[in-house]
Amino acid sequence: MSAKGGVGKSVISSLLAIALSRDHDTLLVDLDIHTMALPKLFGYDGVLHEVSKEGIIPFRIAQKLKLLTLGGVVKGRTVILPGRNQERVMESLLGTGAIKEDVIVFDLPPGLGDEILVLEKVTDFLPLVVTNPSTLSVRVVEYLLKYLEEKGKNPLLIVNMSFMKCGSEVIRPFGSLNEQVSRRGLQIVELPMDETLNRFVGKIQEYRGNLLDEMYKLSSIINERMR
Ligand SMILES: Nc1ncnc2c1ncn2[C@@H]1O[C@H](COP(=O)(O)OP(=O)(O)OP(=O)(O)O)[C@@H](O)[C@H]1O
Ligand SMILES: [Mg+2]
Repeated sequence: MSAKGGVGKSVISSLLAIALSRDHDTLLVDLDIHTMALPKLFGYDGVLHEVSKEGIIPFRIAQKLKLLTLGGVVKGRTVILPGRNQERVMESLLGTGAIKEDVIVFDLPPGLGDEILVLEKVTDFLPLVVTNPSTLSVRVVEYLLKYLEEKGKNPLLIVNMSFMKCGSEVIRPFGSLNEQVSRRGLQIVELPMDETLNRFVGKIQEYRGNLLDEMYKLSSIINERMR
């Protein structure tokens, strides 16, 4: 989750679910009912979910990885949802989805909206808050961190696009992380930029780049925290 848009929530939730699915039956749930980026990332754009007596059958991406998305219900159609209906749509997706997996990764839209309230209602969760190191993103995300702290949650802070390697040199295009956030005492995970990511839109399950290695490390941290 993040209070800020475009910081990498969908990419990170996808790659994290791929990494977690090495050891666990994993379900990736697309709670961004406005843009539905996940079917686009995995090559399921315009594909409909099958429905059985058990409910909506998530897409099987790999042996231990499935994807549940409103995109698989509305196909590629645009749906404009008035605010009061959004919560119901999300709850219906979760309520009618045939969910059996041990681990669920939720991709959320930016902001502090209904989806966080829905999540709080339906499950206990470990918040992974994503930002990039830019001062503006960090300031926006601080509101969310404060909210989660007030709710007694201990979020993990993912600082995406923190650095890139050019030969032996490490470049930090956004500069260093704002000190105010470092001081909050949160566990922080910095992720690199990877310019090859673009090539995997529509087949992200085939990505084997350095972000995936970081996701295996993140999975271990999450396993530890969820124990
Ligand atoms: N570590 C990275 N290296 C290179 N490109 C990245 C990285 N992380 C994300 N991107 C790119 O940044 C863009 C935004 O990523 P993404 O859609 O995952 O963000 P988001 O936070 O989910 O956005 P939204 O708020 O719209 O849901 C995409 O084009 C994605 O490929
Ligand atoms: Mg997204």
